Amino acid sequence: MTPQDLMKQEVGKAAAARVQSNSIVGLGTGSTTAFAIEYIGKRLAAGEITNVKGIPTSFQATVLARQYGIPLTTLDEVDRIDIAIDGADEVDPNKNLIKGGGAAHTQEKVIDALAAQFIVVVDNTKLVDKLGSTFLLPVEVIPMAVTPVMKAIEKLGGKPQLRMGIKKAGPVVTDQGNLVIDVKFDSIDNPAELEKTLNNIPGVLENGLFVGVADLILVGEVKGDQVIIKEM
Ligand code: 5RP
Repeated sequence: MTPQDLMKQEVGKAAAARVQSNSIVGLGTGSTTAFAIEYIGKRLAAGEITNVKGIPTSFQATVLARQYGIPLTTLDEVDRIDIAIDGADEVDPNKNLIKGGGAAHTQEKVIDALAAQFIVVVDNTKLVDKLGSTFLLPVEVIPMAVTPVMKAIEKLGGKPQLRMGIKKAGPVVTDQGNLVIDVKFDSIDNPAELEKTLNNIPGVLENGLFVGVADLILVGEVKGDQVIIKEM
């Protein structure tokens, strides 16, 4: 395992340790959250916790939850989400995030925002002073609106590019059947305003700015030959 994978594993485990019996858990998407899903499943199998149900944020989370034996439910069947665990692509000092590296940010935002407690799991490479400095901002768009949305984003000063598939010809298609535009902004000075402005463009479903949603950030960091977990 690489040091980064080790950080992801340990931070995922630390978040899974916070899940309590009789709770509804939002299951995020990505390689870090995958470890959290694995350890929630292991705690259930060991009888350490009981009566836990997950609400997945993506097809990936659904598959992993089934693999690790976590019973699933839906937003139509519950009146609360106690805790959500999810990764991020960037985290700023105000706990604002860029998400969507796995093209799952639309469902993630619904579930993470509804949770009584939203815990973000990252390794320390994800911490930035300013959002947009290392990662392009993902914007989910309905397919017929891709061209006008790209033009509108250019007018806002962004440089848009359609996300293309890997080991799949053509663009990435989201779990909702939409496309993703990744946008480079020179400087995201006001994430809250940009989040609203982008979502106001006709044809945009959701963007990857998560402003004021995260309650706690768990950060994995390698110290010597150990991984320590810091809280933000
Ligand atoms: C998916 C996401 C992921 O949570 C984010 O991309 C982080 O993934 P990873 O833990 O694999 O680095 O937002 O849409």
